[in-house]
Amino acid sequence: LSVAVLISGTGSNLRALLEAANDPAYPARVVAVGADRDAAGLAHADEFGIPGFVVPFREYTSREEWAEELGRRLDELQPDLIVLSGLMRLLPAALVARWQPRIINTHPAFLPEFPGAHGVRDALAAGVPETGASVIVVDDGVDTGPILAQERIPVLPGDTEETLHDRIKPVERRLLIDVVRRIATGDIDLARSSRQPA
Ligand code: GRF
Repeated sequence: LSVAVLISGTGSNLRALLEAANDPAYPARVVAVGADRDAAGLAHADEFGIPGFVVPFREYTSREEWAEELGRRLDELQPDLIVLSGLMRLLPAALVARWQPRIINTHPAFLPEFPGAHGVRDALAAGVPETGASVIVVDDGVDTGPILAQERIPVLPGDTEETLHDRIKPVERRLLIDVVRRIATGDIDLARSSRQPA
């Protein structure tokens, strides 16, 4: 299964996927890493010899024009699956429609709780005893697509956004690696795109 990963940040989830895919027994390969800015995580692609590309959001006058260029890059790559892993941009409906349901996203909360760009901060602010991590199919809402995997994670007294996010990320990575594996083996059928028991 060929996978293109899109990031905006440190790419720690990307790195975990690169490391998993480094094992010949893992049934998926990362074929490219794209970013909407000069993301630190692109260094992981370089380290693993995976092509990286940047479509700088700030150089485009509209989200649609930015997404058209991103779409052209993805059309060239023709990945079997697109993984959004810390991409801090909403994809326009046209791009989602072009690739649906072969776009999945990792989110650091127990969706549908705390969707959006600040899931960790919002959970902390809500004072909930537990939050979670989720892997979903991207649809044209904000973190509203079918849930493929998710797991509860405790919020501990004294947690900051950083300490909580650092507890969530390893769970996200494990869920992501498992979901990509299950998509590659056909255990998850994205066309049916709903939670499929492990
Ligand atoms: C991850 O928690 C992801 O779910 C969220 O942003 C974070 C990105 O972290 N959207 P990294 O760039 O993979 O380290």
